[in-house]
Amino acid sequence: VASAKQTNTGVSAFPADLLVDLNQAPRRGLRQTLERALRDQIHAGLLTAGGPLPPSRTLAAELGVSRSVVVHAYANLVADGYLQARQGDGTRVRADARARPPAGIGADDARAFFGPARHASLLRARVPMRLLGGLPDPALFPRARWARHYRAALAEMPDREITYPDPRGTQALRLALSTYLGRVRGVVVEPDRMIVSSGVMQGISLVCRALAHGGARRIAVEEPCFRPHRLAISTAGLQPVPVPVDSQGLDVAALGEHDVDAVLLTPAHSFPTGVTLALSRRHALVSWARDRDALIIEDDYDSELRYDRAPIGALQGTVPERTIYLGSISKSLTPAMRLGWVVVPAHLTPALERQKSLDDMGSSVIEQHALGRLLDSGDYARHLRRVRLIYRNRRDAALAAIADLLPQAAVQGEAAGLHVYATLPASTDVQALGLAAAARGLLIEDAAQHWARPQNAAPAIVFGYGSQSQASFQGALTILAQVLSGQAPRT
Ligand SMILES: Cc1ncc(COP(=O)(O)O)c(C=O)c1O
Repeated sequence: VASAKQTNTGVSAFPADLLVDLNQAPRRGLRQTLERALRDQIHAGLLTAGGPLPPSRTLAAELGVSRSVVVHAYANLVADGYLQARQGDGTRVRADARARPPAGIGADDARAFFGPARHASLLRARVPMRLLGGLPDPALFPRARWARHYRAALAEMPDREITYPDPRGTQALRLALSTYLGRVRGVVVEPDRMIVSSGVMQGISLVCRALAHGGARRIAVEEPCFRPHRLAISTAGLQPVPVPVDSQGLDVAALGEHDVDAVLLTPAHSFPTGVTLALSRRHALVSWARDRDALIIEDDYDSELRYDRAPIGALQGTVPERTIYLGSISKSLTPAMRLGWVVVPAHLTPALERQKSLDDMGSSVIEQHALGRLLDSGDYARHLRRVRLIYRNRRDAALAAIADLLPQAAVQGEAAGLHVYATLPASTDVQALGLAAAARGLLIEDAAQHWARPQNAAPAIVFGYGSQSQASFQGALTILAQVLSGQAPRT
């Protein structure tokens, strides 16, 4: 085997390539490329905190570059706080490296934060300040109550239940949810027409797949809408058809011009613009669904958070036979648990159950039991009463801060949920604003990503005010105002 290729030339402690490819890098940009690759890997968690980097000589040999390229790249990353170098201990990733603000990041990295499909990465990014839309405050999660119900659930559950679940969800949770949704949202439901999902988004994906399987082709969506809505529809092989949203909600007359099998909308509190579907439009939508023999897919994602009046009941209560109703605990409790529900007309139940079963064979049984107990005990309602007051105050403070610090912004939308939609003067380049804000350690959400046709979008930001204190919201907004005042108008 004299010709066999040698693969372990003395660098056994480290992967041969460190997942860095300098082949495409220009000769004179080797150091910058290497630096950026290492920084990306640290942010992505591929290079673990405290973990060692290869000695500069070894890495240089592997990459086929001069040692000085690696030495200088390491030195810059040490200076930027990503790496630490100690005599006798080599070079390691600093424990706090991932929390580095993207202050030192290059334009490419920043673009990655703001690229179209970065929702999940945005949420995970450890950036000091985030004004992203729609997140509840993790500090308000009722840990003690949850722990009590979780322990009780574990104690009560017989061994035979600690196994693969009923893919539709536990009977106890479906019963608790049916009672709760009927009482609080006017949803007409029996446990047999409900599927427990791992959140609204899974529910939408399952519904789309089930409809596609049944021959559906096109689903109308709000323009703008929560971007993942469109993606879930197209991923299921269906065509999303954007229909404008105005100050009254979805334009039902415009919907009537399209040949679609269903419409997916957020009638209680549209995302991202924050309006409620007007009563006349609700009636028109119900007539549309009946006349067209079409379905309404109602995303009721944050309806329990209404601050100025009792929320309007779910559309589903008016046309249960034509509505697929979705909700979750992501806004009311936490998105960390991944629990939600889908209520379907009877004829769709088997198709949805099949999709859920194929997807993940059911959601966590123990969590379902605990949530059922939380609902039945009244602790869920108690929690909501508490957080509603807090979020209402935060919303008021956010509006005051926006009026004070960002007077050029026009806020719209109802007193509800965890986000506000603020439009900016037509000359504002929101993407550039986002990049400049990121360089100051602040992530904002450009509303344009939620439009199917971003070129039609007025410059706007979706501000999330729920997940942080009033002081930190104000601090973040101060930075944004500074960045905005330094930005040249778009030509
Ligand atoms: C309109 C809308 N629907 C659904 C979701 C996601 O819900 P879930 O976490 O239950 O999947 C969000 C999250 O922000 C949302 O804004």
